[in-house]
Amino acid sequence: MNGQHVVVTGAAGAIGLAIARLFLTQGANVSLHYYHNVETLRSLLNEYSDQCQAFSVNATDEQAVKKGFADSCNHFGLINVCIVNHDVFKEDDIPIWAMSLDQWQNTINVDLTSYFLYAREWCRQLKHLKPANDDNINASLIVIGSVAGNFGRVNHIDYATAKGALQSSFIKSLKNEIVHIIPQARCNVVTPSWIQTAMTEGLIQQGKHIQTLRTTSLRKLGSADDIAQACLFLASNRTARHITEEVMMIHGGMEGHALW
Ligand SMILES: *[C@@H]1O[C@H](CO)[C@@H](O)[C@H](O)[C@H]1NC(C)=O
Ligand SMILES: *[C@@H]1O[C@H](CO)[C@@H](O)[C@H](O)[C@H]1NC(C)=O
Ligand SMILES: *[C@@H]1O[C@H](CO)[C@@H](O)[C@H](O)[C@H]1NC(C)=O
Repeated sequence: MNGQHVVVTGAAGAIGLAIARLFLTQGANVSLHYYHNVETLRSLLNEYSDQCQAFSVNATDEQAVKKGFADSCNHFGLINVCIVNHDVFKEDDIPIWAMSLDQWQNTINVDLTSYFLYAREWCRQLKHLKPANDDNINASLIVIGSVAGNFGRVNHIDYATAKGALQSSFIKSLKNEIVHIIPQARCNVVTPSWIQTAMTEGLIQQGKHIQTLRTTSLRKLGSADDIAQACLFLASNRTARHITEEVMMIHGGMEGHALW
């Protein structure tokens, strides 16, 4: 990944941090896009002061996403790899009949519409990435999905719907558009199941993951690094140059949710 410019959104969360750290160890220049919590980025920024830079971006704000891209490009040049990872998930269990329109719209905005904004900005700068005489340029978009996009998620229909759209029609359409800009450009999805992080700790303490582990062959939770390794594999034109529109499930063989 030497010299490649990678953008990671949601960089201040556990998964974003693990992705950023892994790409940094592989020599990439990483633009860290975060919203809150710049504090969690401090150690990376100190440790890799030449290789990474943090930008606060409100991912649902069209102008802010444009500016985040422009600032990142000014710093490290055009963007080879864009990893769109941020999301919101409301912990409370809320069935559709009790869900407010506000909650639905907020989740769709953050978990789906802002992915459109990021993918669009990445595509708009791709045409500048392509040198006149070299078709072999690395260009890869990775979105972070969720097993909720495959199996649904009871009492979280907003989140499951956004992830399901990303994992199916969004990348199925996008993969056939980006090759008109760069013939080797690829887009893929990395799909985590339950990941042990500070964000899920409360839910794990309540035992909410147990119904899921009952259908999971490996019978354990994933780690943020498991997700990062999958992203690295898919981003590299050495390991994944013929892989596009893949939905890579990092779920330990999960077969769904035990319902009752
Ligand atoms: C983020 O952007 C959206 C869309 O422009 C806006 O509605 C929202 O208030 C912004 N959030 C903050 C905290 O500024
Ligand atoms: C990866 O891309 C570089 C240039 O961006 C190219 O030189 C190299 O041949 C590519 N590798 C493969 C395996 O396609
Ligand atoms: C493309 O990526 C490969 C590793 O995946 C790297 O060796 C190569 O230098 C990259 N090429 C460019 C032009 O960034």
